[in-house]
Amino acid sequence: MPHSSPRASVCLAVSGASGAIYGIRLLRMLLQAETQVELIYTPAARRVLAEECGIVLGTDPTVLWQESGAAADENWPTLVQLHSHQNIGAKPASGSAGIQTVIVLPCSLDTLAAISMGRAENLVERAAQVALKEQRQLILCPRETPLSKVHLDHMSRLAWAGAMILPACPGFYHQPRRMEDLVDQVCAKVMDVCGISQTDIFRWQGSE
Ligand SMILES: Cc1cc2nc3c(=O)[nH]c(=O)nc-3n(C[C@H](O)[C@H](O)[C@H](O)COP(=O)(O)O)c2cc1C
Repeated sequence: MPHSSPRASVCLAVSGASGAIYGIRLLRMLLQAETQVELIYTPAARRVLAEECGIVLGTDPTVLWQESGAAADENWPTLVQLHSHQNIGAKPASGSAGIQTVIVLPCSLDTLAAISMGRAENLVERAAQVALKEQRQLILCPRETPLSKVHLDHMSRLAWAGAMILPACPGFYHQPRRMEDLVDQVCAKVMDVCGISQTDIFRWQGSE
């Protein structure tokens, strides 16, 4: 498939929950699938990326795959548009931009609560509200344990409103050997529910 014709447009928001590596690996999978990505990260995500992955973010999104050791495809930069978290007028802020899927991975309980309450104070929250009001796909991947009743209540409200709650919670039935095997299984699940074809997911074939 030619690089000039991306198949889908996805908004990927990385918030400040633990598991920043999930955001990086999902970005790589989306780009490998030649998906157009509207990328946002929160100030807390910037801090967690530095603390967990040693990645210092600037305004250049290529650092996200270069510093994670990926062999970058020369076409990837053309597929990614990085938006300031504060730019509530950027493309993902409008339903008319036609973004069909918004993913928050990892999703902090702070961002999750804000979305549940209908808030749109920053671009991540706004993009999520747009997905809900336009009845498009919103995938929220919280990473927290244990969960309070407040957290569960927010998740319940969001599921009721049409969001998918997809916890960043890997399975073990694919016999993971490396941390990347666990991370990739969660990211591949997200790709799967987005309907973007990929080869990274382990598919259970059944057992007797
Ligand atoms: C190293 C680190 C790890 C964190 N891990 C989590 C976490 O796993 N889940 C969570 O909900 N918040 C976590 N937090 C707290 C969030 O970063 C904090 O609530 C922040 O306000 C979230 O902001 P954001 O939603 O705008 O990214 C963590 C913070 C730090 C510094």
